[in-house]
Amino acid sequence: MVDVILGLQWGDEGKGKIVDYFAKGYDVVARFQGGPNAGHTLFVDGKKMVLHQIPSGIFHENKINLIGNGVVLDPVTLKKECESVAALGVDYKKNLFISQRAHLILPTHRAIDKASETSKGNEKIGSTLKGISPAYMDKTGRNGLRVGDLLDKSFTTQYIRLRLKHQKLLDNFSFSEDISTWEDEFFEGLEFLRELQIVNGEYFINDQMRNGKKILAEGAQGSMLDVDFGTFPFVTSSSTISAGVCTGLGIAPQKINEVYGVTKAYCTRVGSGPFPTELKDETGEQIRQTGNEFGSTTGRPRRCGWIDLVALKFACMINGVTQLIMTKADVLDALQSLQVCDEYIVNGKRQTEVPFQMLRMDIEPVYRKFVGWQTDITGINDYEQLPGKMKEYINYINSSLGVPVKYISNGPGSNQIIVAL
Ligand code: GDP
Ligand code: IMO
Ligand code: MG
Repeated sequence: MVDVILGLQWGDEGKGKIVDYFAKGYDVVARFQGGPNAGHTLFVDGKKMVLHQIPSGIFHENKINLIGNGVVLDPVTLKKECESVAALGVDYKKNLFISQRAHLILPTHRAIDKASETSKGNEKIGSTLKGISPAYMDKTGRNGLRVGDLLDKSFTTQYIRLRLKHQKLLDNFSFSEDISTWEDEFFEGLEFLRELQIVNGEYFINDQMRNGKKILAEGAQGSMLDVDFGTFPFVTSSSTISAGVCTGLGIAPQKINEVYGVTKAYCTRVGSGPFPTELKDETGEQIRQTGNEFGSTTGRPRRCGWIDLVALKFACMINGVTQLIMTKADVLDALQSLQVCDEYIVNGKRQTEVPFQMLRMDIEPVYRKFVGWQTDITGINDYEQLPGKMKEYINYINSSLGVPVKYISNGPGSNQIIVAL
């Protein structure tokens, strides 16, 4: 069976830490979508590591880590990442496997991403500029190159052909930056990638399942960034939800068992786009500083706001979430009072559904107020010891979403996690 850990908000919910925590109970950890736009933080022997493409199970000895077909892979970033995990003693040549169907991110994809964002001016998506959208466009447009193509004699010809197509697009954008160093790095990255374990991912993972191995699928980004169900067009270009596990790894839907949904105790978003519960005041700034809410991939300040139960309920529905994991609860420790968004007022009318678009309408959150617990919870490891006011907050979320908060993360450390009763 396959369990899934994925983000329910706009990314950066703490998935890396949670996957690392759960990985010990699994044989395989697999990424099914996204690419180096992800930044998953975890602590290895007290040292901070940020993973972009390698699954967050890589620091566990003898666990298989698979980059699935649904991922778009940048060989340049992958090489750097492999070198940095190797410096911490990881034998990536043994534990890392890559699907031959994963699409490659080319230097020109990064250039097109940059040119496209620049051309959008004030309406830019706030992309991480890692080439994600152009790479997925080439996948659905049936132009892209895949990891398996690398092993074919015609690869260079195919590359040149696609590069010429991209050049026409870049010319249309009047993009004139010299990307030759990106290309040099890319070809070095390809040489590196060729030496890794490139597999037929769908057979590989189904064989693992047949042999009774336990699989953990690791989501990137979050449900509100999903290309279909997120705040389009301010989304990423992949299926970030549990359904993406099937297409991104080649497994059947009935194989999916637990869906662990990760949510912060509040909410953040990096990049542009609608964010109904955003706090543009001192409280927002306090959360940003206390939670160190700066992007793991780009270093940009994250926008902060109250937890949004309308969006969370929607995310639980489309993912079939079976258990919730609440992270960064400790960030709210000092607050005197907290708010929870229960409903939206959309163009003057109350509603509990997420609108199909949130740009050309006026959305006002309806809040319920909670008294803050004003207690340092970072050292607590027993649910019973948590402050009563915090339990009230959690119980309200449980009953409102109809899905239980089973784990509470109370600090970035790998052992700072409390199992709820
Ligand atoms: P991901 O993209 O979902 O893996 O999340 P990121 O790694 O981008 O961002 C989460 C940040 O919060 C990282 O800096 C983590 O070290 C940190 N973090 C994770 N869980 C907790 C927690 O419970 N409390 C605090 N204070 N920090 C946490
Ligand atoms: P993890 O896995 C937070 C956001 C970008 C931008 C939008 C599109 O660490 O949670 P893209 O580069 O995909 O074209 O950007 O999506 N974004 C993320 N925000 N966490 C992420 O990943 C993100 N990956 C992309 O900021 O708004
Ligand atoms: Mg992140």
